[in-house]
Amino acid sequence: MSKLTFTSRQYPATRLRRPRAQAWSRNLVRETRLTPDDLIWAMVLKDGKGVREPVDHMNGVFRLSPDEAVKAAKEARALGINALALFPYTDLAQRSSDGAEAVNGDNLMCRTAKMIKDAVPDIGLICDVALDPYTDHGHDGLMKDGIILNDETVDVLCRQAVVQADAGFDIIAPSDMMDGRIGRIRAALDNAGYEDRQIMSYAVKYASCFYGPYRGAIGSGDLLKGDKKTYQMDPANSNEGLHEVALDLSEGADSVMVKPGMPYLDMITRVKQTFGVPTYAFQVSGEYAMISMAGDVGAINRDRAILESLMCFRRAGADGIISYFAKEAAELML
Ligand code: PBG
Repeated sequence: MSKLTFTSRQYPATRLRRPRAQAWSRNLVRETRLTPDDLIWAMVLKDGKGVREPVDHMNGVFRLSPDEAVKAAKEARALGINALALFPYTDLAQRSSDGAEAVNGDNLMCRTAKMIKDAVPDIGLICDVALDPYTDHGHDGLMKDGIILNDETVDVLCRQAVVQADAGFDIIAPSDMMDGRIGRIRAALDNAGYEDRQIMSYAVKYASCFYGPYRGAIGSGDLLKGDKKTYQMDPANSNEGLHEVALDLSEGADSVMVKPGMPYLDMITRVKQTFGVPTYAFQVSGEYAMISMAGDVGAINRDRAILESLMCFRRAGADGIISYFAKEAAELML
């Protein structure tokens, strides 16, 4: 018969459950905070007026026309969101092999930026620098005989960056992964008198399947020929990401980004711990789709999954998170 009573029991001296026992105590020992200050709202634009067009696989995300984007910017600011990252849907008629629409100072991105800045001057505006919304082959650079041309592409990106600065964008965010573009874009901005504009480099950007819904959202999905593996990083690599960050910082980047987000939290931590510079994460379209679909069928709690995922970016070391959930998350924090 086993002995059920002990005269002397061994008690653990340390009980981690003690500080977890009450809400007030958990609040005191919480190591990380998530506030609307940490969020950048990713927003997809489409030409027109009064347009709110649902994006496939992204329940809750709409392509917005410029007037609707202005309304959304006001709502975002009222919720305490500091910045928006804009992305354009471009239909086939405006696309070309050289992506010339990217350098049209009157394009959808530029027109919308001006309208938002007029209506909500104190919100930060971030723009991608890359050609994929504008090319008829869906690649981020110029293509010749199936090869993405590096230096020729950077020439165009420099012009694109200046056009975007002209329109009022505050943060120029090259997402193209061409070599040497940060230094050249910095020089182009400075030469044009825009030494005040920040560069947020998509430095650690992987060739990822998680961009799927985004490519549909901007109209590139069906156009893309092949993949982006000759310029975006191999998901198997980690040290290479630090190398990218080191180069981009040496060329003048003010901040760097890791993208996608959730499967790459290790990279956020490594970048933040190694360089200590402003480090952003992008919770990309495929991550949005996974959380929102699982939430919508009741497999997980949508609201809690949104907030937990965003908190985890902060815990990993991200200063800010670009997310399509930003507005929904800020509302949940009210
Ligand atoms: C393009 C770009 C991409 C995203 C942002 N900028 C996709 C790509 O590189 O193919 C992805 C965003 C998302 O999936 O939400 N340079």
